[in-house]
Parts: sequence; C-alpha cells; structure tokens
Amino acid sequence: MAEGVLFNLAGKVLEMLGPLTLQEINLAYGDVKAELENIKTTVSIIQAVLLDAEKQGSHNNKVKDWLNKLRDVLLDAYDVLDDLSTEDSRYKMMTGNKMTKEVRIFFSSSNQLTYSLKIGHRIKAIRERLDAITIDKKDFRFIQSSIEPQVMNRGRETYSFVLEENVVGREDDKKEIIKLLLDTNTVENVSLIPIVGSGGLGKTTLAQLIYKDENVKNNFELMLWTCVSDNFVVKRIVKQILECFGGRRCEEIESLDILQKHLQRKLNGKKYFIVSDDVWIEDKNQWILLKDLLMGGARGSRIVVTTRSIKVAEIMDTPSRHELKGLAPKKAWSLFVKMAFKERVKSQKTKP
Ligand SMILES: Nc1ncnc2c1ncn2[C@@H]1O[C@H](COP(=O)(O)OP(=O)(O)OP(=O)(O)O)[C@@H](O)[C@H]1O
Ligand SMILES: [Mg+2]
Repeated sequence: MAEGVLFNLAGKVLEMLGPLTLQEINLAYGDVKAELENIKTTVSIIQAVLLDAEKQGSHNNKVKDWLNKLRDVLLDAYDVLDDLSTEDSRYKMMTGNKMTKEVRIFFSSSNQLTYSLKIGHRIKAIRERLDAITIDKKDFRFIQSSIEPQVMNRGRETYSFVLEENVVGREDDKKEIIKLLLDTNTVENVSLIPIVGSGGLGKTTLAQLIYKDENVKNNFELMLWTCVSDNFVVKRIVKQILECFGGRRCEEIESLDILQKHLQRKLNGKKYFIVSDDVWIEDKNQWILLKDLLMGGARGSRIVVTTRSIKVAEIMDTPSRHELKGLAPKKAWSLFVKMAFKERVKSQKTKP
C-alpha cells in the first residue's frame, strides 16, 4: 500500500468526526455520541503511529494484515459518518424551513427510530472493531510520529514516467505550469519554477504529467529528470545532467571547474528543460552556484523544482512559484477510494 494512504484516510475520518454535532437527530440506540467520541480518540491514537506502521507493512506480513483490517474499518467508518452527516444536515436544512409532507413523514418519530437503531448498531460495531485493532496493535512496536508526514518517503529515487489515466484531477495545475514553461516573456534566459506542497500531495505526479506533455516535449531540445533527495550537492546534480545529456560517466571528476566547463559545452545555446524532483537545499549559496552553472542554456530554458519546503522556494527567489493545494473534495475522495479499494481488491485476491 502506498505510504501515507491510511494516515490520510484516518485524518479524513477525524475531520468528519470534528463538526458532527448531531444535536438535531435523536439517536435512540445507546449513547451514540459517546461511541463517536470513543472512535475519535482511538483513531487519533492509531493515526499517530500509522506512518511508521505503513512503512513496516511493506516488509512485514503481520503488520500488513493489521493494516488491511484497519483500512476496512476506516472505510466503513467513513461510510457511516458520511450517511450520518448527510442525514444531519438534511434534517437541519429541512427543520429550518417549512417541511413538505414527504419530509415530515421521513422525519416522523417511527422512521427516526428505525434510522437511529440502524446507524447506532453500525457505529457500535465500528467502535468494537477499532477496539480489537487497538488491542492487536500492542503486538507491534510502532514509533509514534508527529501528525504532519514531513519525513515520509525520504531518500527514494523518482522517475519521469507516469500513467496519465491513473492521475485524478490536476488539469488546472498542469495548465498553469505549462503556461509558465512556454512563456516567452521572461527576463532571464533560464527560469526556475518551484512546485511547493506538503508530503504526498502530488508534486512529483504533477511534474511527471508535465514532463510527458507533448507541447513541452516539442518546445525543448534537451530534457532531463533528476532526483537529488536528501543531501543536495550541486556536484551530484551537475554530474547527473552531464551523464544524461552527454552520455558519459563523470563519477571520477571531482573538480567543479571541470564539470562546469563540460556543462557549458553541453548546454551552450540549447533550450533545455530540467525537472529536479524532491529538493531540500536550504543553503542559499548552493542555489546561487547551481543557477550560475545552469545559466548557459538558450533563452526559454526552464528548471522545475519540486519541494516540500517553503524555505527552499523562498531561497530560490523566483518570480513565480506554484503552491500545490489539496485536490477538490470530490476528486480527493475519489482518489482515496481508488487507492484504498485497489489495495482491498489486491489483498482479497492474495487470500488463500
Ligand atoms: N492527482 C493524483 N492522482 C492519482 N494519484 C496521485 C495524485 N496525486 C498523488 N497521487 C499518488 O499519491 C502518492 C504521492 O504522490 P507524489 O509522490 O506525487 O507526492 P509528492 O507531493 O511528490 O510527495 P513527496 O513530498 O513525498 O515527494 C503517489 O503514489 C501518487 O501516485
Ligand atoms: Mg515527490
């Protein structure tokens, strides 16, 4: 399962539990409000270890099974909360105005009782399943992490390939960045465009979409995808660029001066497009150095940098930056369902 999916799903459930006041609907079965409070506390406790659990789940089958159970409960909890909140707002909306006869019948006390009993049972069952999952959690040693998944997925390599049909939304973001890439009205020969956003938001995915766009491909002579997570070292980037553009290994070259000369020769007069994915340089001097080294391209050359760090984007000191926001609620949910159900189907297929 992609890391962070369950962490985000748990967050979604907590988000839905937040504003649920349920003052209007008379939930007759048991103490539903107390059950919901219970669920909220349990999901918060579980969410705190989920980033670590998801990491462990990639190589430990017991953890994987535990995560699968948790995913099923969270999806069911989401369904129940969705029903409940729809009902709650429908009731509030209707009782605020004159009710039609049908609405009056729907909210009649007998219908309400049946509804309350059904939903009360579902909520109680979810609370019980979550309690069991919390007990099982004791078998594992998960490390508690801060709520913001800041350090998720560090140090991995990324690549430019993406299956476009798997990407949900992002059409407007893509359009906006491509407009910047193809804009001929820029002061500098080479422009840097940072894409900033928190972990897992889809920065790499967006950069991949842009990289494979036909208009982009036709606009540049040289294209390169680089990934320099962790210690951003200008030399490593330059070597990657040279190896890709020039086809030669330059591991043995340590002199920045020689590397620069090679680079100037390669870039000279060429319009290039580089994606530098997952950049963490917060040292202004390194940026100045890299910019100097890359300025030799033809007018219109572009470098797109993806980063979680707003500080990186600020240090880069660029005229434009793209701050990536979350997907629109409908698209975001359709993505969650797509990812979570894909995993559910996969795990059901592998069951004996
Ligand atoms: N719009 C989308 N449609 C489909 N899948 C997406 C979308 N956005 C992100 N994903 C998926 O979510 C996961 C995280 O996305 P991605 O790697 O692009 O995030 P990121 O912002 O680059 O994260 P990081 O800061 O960790 O590098 C990936 O598995 C990706 O395929
Ligand atoms: Mg990324």
